[in-house]
Amino acid sequence: MFQKKIFVLIGLVLLQLCQFGLNQNVQSIQSVDAIGRATKLLSAFFNNVLHPVQSDDPFYCAVETLVALGSEVKLSLRPRGRCRYCCPLNNPHDFIDIYFTVKPKNETVTLKLIKKKGYLKSNGVNKDFDTILYIHGFTEHGFGVSAKAIRDAYLSRNEYYNIMLLNWGHLSVFPWYTEAVENTKIVGKILGDFLKFYNNTGELPVSKLHLIGFSLGSHIAGFSGKLLGKRKIARITGLDPAFPQFSLTDKKQRLSRFDAKYVDIIHTDGGVFGFPISLGHADFYPNGGKHIQPGCEASRLAEEHNFISIVLCNHFHSWRFYAESVESATSFPATHCGIMQNSTWTQCNFTTHNHMGYSVNQSSLGNFYLRTHDKHPFSKTAQEQFFTQDNINLIL
Ligand SMILES: *[C@@H]1O[C@H](CO)[C@@H](O)[C@H](O)[C@H]1NC(C)=O
Ligand SMILES: *[C@@H]1O[C@H](CO)[C@@H](O)[C@H](O)[C@H]1NC(C)=O
Ligand SMILES: *[C@@H]1O[C@H](CO)[C@@H](O)[C@H](O)[C@H]1NC(C)=O
Ligand SMILES: *[C@@H]1O[C@H](CO)[C@@H](O)[C@H](O)[C@H]1NC(C)=O
Ligand SMILES: *[C@@H]1O[C@H](CO)[C@@H](O)[C@H](O)[C@H]1NC(C)=O
Repeated sequence: MFQKKIFVLIGLVLLQLCQFGLNQNVQSIQSVDAIGRATKLLSAFFNNVLHPVQSDDPFYCAVETLVALGSEVKLSLRPRGRCRYCCPLNNPHDFIDIYFTVKPKNETVTLKLIKKKGYLKSNGVNKDFDTILYIHGFTEHGFGVSAKAIRDAYLSRNEYYNIMLLNWGHLSVFPWYTEAVENTKIVGKILGDFLKFYNNTGELPVSKLHLIGFSLGSHIAGFSGKLLGKRKIARITGLDPAFPQFSLTDKKQRLSRFDAKYVDIIHTDGGVFGFPISLGHADFYPNGGKHIQPGCEASRLAEEHNFISIVLCNHFHSWRFYAESVESATSFPATHCGIMQNSTWTQCNFTTHNHMGYSVNQSSLGNFYLRTHDKHPFSKTAQEQFFTQDNINLIL
């Protein structure tokens, strides 16, 4: 265990160095892909160090939770997946499940991603309710902080919901980012098959399904959506879709607006951990869509001694904003202004063209901009927001 913790700390330090190195110059996408390169180097490093070890040795394949420095991280000395040095993934279904709660009950059952007619119904999934299915990101698990925030937000609403939290924590362990990226395709396929099957039994109609994916989870939602083809999932929300090692241009290799009837994106760490370009029918750029988000100033986080949130604060703001939006229909008014034309910012007075998050207007498309407070409640009213060409720092 001691050896493990040492590896983890090395990894965390490397990740943090990447972040701070990049903060100097995130304007250029080329330099930003250094994170992708750094994580590949990290994989190579771990691969070499661990090479002599049998890849299915239970010690090296065990997933541990590291609760340290104010955060919780799932880690393993080897990744699970299909790489040469990966722990075997004979039946990927064994490593994925869904924590399911039906809104009026607040009781959680664990669902396997099996295909058996009547299985969802007998576990309490109500075909008449809207279903939200949340998909976590790297190093998290199905009951991590982001998943809990989303679930609690929906539990606080008046309407009834099927609330599902996908748990693919064993396939997204620290520090194996490159392998987790590969695994998004495997998980996306399994989830897509599962959704197709239960749409056809009538137990979980995709027309009432909303997938919400954070970071790597956004692309899992995208891969599942691609699998359902023309009869699409009603909505996918991408919360700061992961950028390192994903294609900017190839829509088949990442979440895109073709993966659901309606795709909305919240960008909070564009160019570092999050995608720097618009991917959906509507793309929201709170505070310009990139670091440093209000409340994520390094000096402030250093005081809180929360190491992981220094690295991930901007990225995490995407699910914080979304969870808050679920609680109030009028939160996060956003405007079209701010779009760059001929290399200068168009100046405009704030007019509400849409709301970011839960109550997005699906008829209003394009890019939207807004500003937020630096702590919960983050939402600013339209009156509190004012744009001029130089007080917002956009990345497009
Ligand atoms: C749901 O139940 C858990 C524990 O069983 C409790 O901590 C939580 O507050 C409950 N949430 C709601 C919205 O009732
Ligand atoms: C989902 O079910 C509906 C109703 O049975 C059907 O019309 C539709 O084709 C199905 N969609 C997919 C992707 O299988
Ligand atoms: C942008 O530049 C083009 C040509 O240089 C010009 O026709 C157009 O009016 C400009 N648009 C704005 C909004 O300034
Ligand atoms: C914004 O509103 C102010 C006051 O109503 C007005 O003077 C100004 O011209 C407006 N600016 C734009 C870009 O519409
Ligand atoms: C949604 O947006 C459309 C297009 O901008 C607009 O016509 C419609 O009034 C909006 N709906 C609501 C409820 O604001």
